[in-house]
Amino acid sequence: MDKHFKYASTDKMSDLICGNYNLLLVMSRFGLSLGFGDQTVEQVCDQQGVHTGTFLAVVNFMEDECCIREDYQEKISVEALIDYLRQAHSYFLDFNLPAIRRKLIDAIDCSKDDIAFLILKFYDEYVNEVRAHMEYENQVVFQYVDALLKGRDTQGYNIRIFAARHNQIETKLTELKNIIVKYYPAKTNNNLLNSVLFDIYSCEKDLSSHCRVEDYIFVPLMLEFEKKTEENARE
Ligand SMILES: [Fe+2]
Ligand SMILES: [Fe+2]
Repeated sequence: MDKHFKYASTDKMSDLICGNYNLLLVMSRFGLSLGFGDQTVEQVCDQQGVHTGTFLAVVNFMEDECCIREDYQEKISVEALIDYLRQAHSYFLDFNLPAIRRKLIDAIDCSKDDIAFLILKFYDEYVNEVRAHMEYENQVVFQYVDALLKGRDTQGYNIRIFAARHNQIETKLTELKNIIVKYYPAKTNNNLLNSVLFDIYSCEKDLSSHCRVEDYIFVPLMLEFEKKTEENARE
């Protein structure tokens, strides 16, 4: 079955990274560390206590980001996927977004330019939105999944409620990028500003694929899981 996908459990882990360096981010969110020599995906995952099926589902999804085949769903662990998504939230909120903010402050002169001040204000508002989005997922959605897994009361919540309100969060970042590109007054040395723009571009892409993992892997997986849980309860 694996041969339909680009990456299989028998592939060398190092080949995955060389093929697509964005997978480095996926690896670290799964808690995988580097230094795996010539070991295969399965060997590295087994050794580091990572769920191979879930890891492969996510890395293969990253290739075209359109959908996940139904037969592959059985290979995903709900716990491992939730863990992965939580790690991604912590990467954005505790590492990447604050790092971009620091770089932004270095790149634009907030003491003189009104536009610089506006850019920073816009950025901070944006980060607050992302925080609210991700905290809702951590505190409401994943808590619900946790309760479902443990057979506790789910208080009427279900994954359709999440799917209906789940929105894209990278749109405002696209706007910010446009404001900087179109309106920030040119200086002689733009290296820092270009560098922060590159970071914003890649953060935007990273956030969009994070949301797609939630829409196209997490939601369908949970719909199936809810169905099974209901069937088991009826038996
Ligand atoms: Fe999320
Ligand atoms: Fe989300």
